[in-house]
Amino acid sequence: MIPDDLADRIRERIDIISIISEHINLKKSGQNYKGLCPFHSEKTPSFTVSPAKQIFHCFGCGAGGNVFHFLMRYDNLTFPQALRYLGERAGIKIPEPGKREGIEKDNKEELYKANELAAEYFYNNLAESREAEEARGYLKKRGIENKTIEEFKIGYSLPQWEAAYRYLRQKGIDAATLEKAGLIIKKENGFYDRFRGRIIFPILDLKKRVIGFGGRVIDDSLPKYINSPESPIYIKGENLYCLEKARQEIVRRGYLLIVEGYLDAIMTYQKGVRNAAAALGTALTQGHIRLIKRFTNNLILIFDPDAAGKKAAIRSAPLFLEAGMKVKVAALTEGTDPDTFLRKNGVDAFVERLKNSERLFDFVFSEVRGKDPLTAIDDKMKAVNELLPLINGIPGRIEKNLYIKRLAEGLGIDETDILAELKALSQKKALRSGEKARSGVQPQKPAAHRGGAKAEEMLIHIMLNDESIARKVMGHLGADDFRDPNYKKVAGIIYRAIDEGKGLNDLSGIDDPVVANLLSSLSIRDLEYDDLEQSFNDCVQKIKGRGIKDRMRELQERLSAAEKKGDTESRRQILNEMKELKSVN
Ligand code: UTP
Ligand code: MN
Repeated sequence: MIPDDLADRIRERIDIISIISEHINLKKSGQNYKGLCPFHSEKTPSFTVSPAKQIFHCFGCGAGGNVFHFLMRYDNLTFPQALRYLGERAGIKIPEPGKREGIEKDNKEELYKANELAAEYFYNNLAESREAEEARGYLKKRGIENKTIEEFKIGYSLPQWEAAYRYLRQKGIDAATLEKAGLIIKKENGFYDRFRGRIIFPILDLKKRVIGFGGRVIDDSLPKYINSPESPIYIKGENLYCLEKARQEIVRRGYLLIVEGYLDAIMTYQKGVRNAAAALGTALTQGHIRLIKRFTNNLILIFDPDAAGKKAAIRSAPLFLEAGMKVKVAALTEGTDPDTFLRKNGVDAFVERLKNSERLFDFVFSEVRGKDPLTAIDDKMKAVNELLPLINGIPGRIEKNLYIKRLAEGLGIDETDILAELKALSQKKALRSGEKARSGVQPQKPAAHRGGAKAEEMLIHIMLNDESIARKVMGHLGADDFRDPNYKKVAGIIYRAIDEGKGLNDLSGIDDPVVANLLSSLSIRDLEYDDLEQSFNDCVQKIKGRGIKDRMRELQERLSAAEKKGDTESRRQILNEMKELKSVN
């Protein structure tokens, strides 16, 4: 085991500024240092390092954490590798790992191995198990050929609670590794399988290692899909399903086709269109774009033209344009996805749709403009306001001008007016990023009134920056009172640090990358509340009040049930409880 305080001792002797400076050019800016983020492409520095807190955070892509997280990500090291490297530099000896010691748990290799074995196991279940009869029938019904099952290593998880757990343990994988890989879930006194009675789609990275799974039900029960959680080897915003199979064809054809779901990627592949990958129901991120840019600059987005699909395309439009990508949108018949369309209309009709795809800007333009020509001035202004930021993000000057022309013609506005608006917009933007650079904060102002989630964020932000308030919060709320699972985790970490008298400046030992990023982002963001005490009170009230509301609702339900049954004793008790609840509020 790595002694708990070893990482702390190393960090005490290492300065994050000097380590990061070895890789990136950092400039002092106020209390912090800034540089160009190595984890996404940018032209103005939003990568921030705090010497006081010994953490980094990028306001552009959200990457963040302590010096270990930096090296793990920058040099692609495991935690023990980063520890050993920095330990050497700090002159602190790291105990060598014994067999079946904790140090191995952090090893990515173990996770790959667990997933590999699991994939094989699920695959064999589907092929051989009697219990997989229905699953085999389902895949057949959906037109998936055996060859495709083999190529995608599609599998089946048995309906029992511990089938995969038992099998993998018996193969020598320890429970901690299985849990970290997301294959099993911890309960009070043991573990159970995450995937039960589902068709399994293994997710591979570019090196064809299994990094996660998706599991689909074989009826119409919910949730339709269960997916592996993020882990040290599976970061959702940086992987696309089927990309490892599509990469060659993407380069050959010169573009990538983005579809939404597992079965869309599988069916396009089976039908011979082999340059498609799936975003798996999430919006595309900077991380995806970086990944895609390794193979092509050209994308065709294809989606079911329902409201959700359209919105996703519109939302991600600025991201693509700013990255200088050429993006087109292909629409299928209403209510069909590529899988359905291909099976119904065949591959030729599908390819025809791809040929008829529309440029992303035109697509967004006609969405914003609507079907009828805009006549009202208000409508025109609204369209201009929605489209200008998009045009503003286009890097090429000629292209930008073409779009300005199009916008002017399309809306019947003078081109010079649009140019003037655009100039005002970029000035505003420059001003804002100037402010940002000076103060080192995002121009986003947290407000207490925007619902419980915001209150949780604010409260965590305040706690991380003011230990005395964190102590007060502890007196009012437990970590479980936070509803967002990540904030819940962070609250737990803060409480533990305070309990152990560690202070909040140097929170470490966090291996969940999402939580690490969250912590760094909130720790490094400056406090900008007018009245800290007041903000803290508001948030606590909001979160507490929410708990009371829920409790009240529950009591109300129990009350009606008791009244229906004519159970006067329960009724009396419940009423008493309700009265008490009201009096404390
Ligand atoms: P869809 O609902 O379009 O599913 O979600 P699908 O892929 O077309 O599957 P079939 O055809 O109904 O069998 C698209 C993607 O969104 C994610 C999955 O990655 C899915 O492939 N999703 C959807 C989930 O993660 N969970 C869900 O409950 C639903
Ligand atoms: Mn589908």
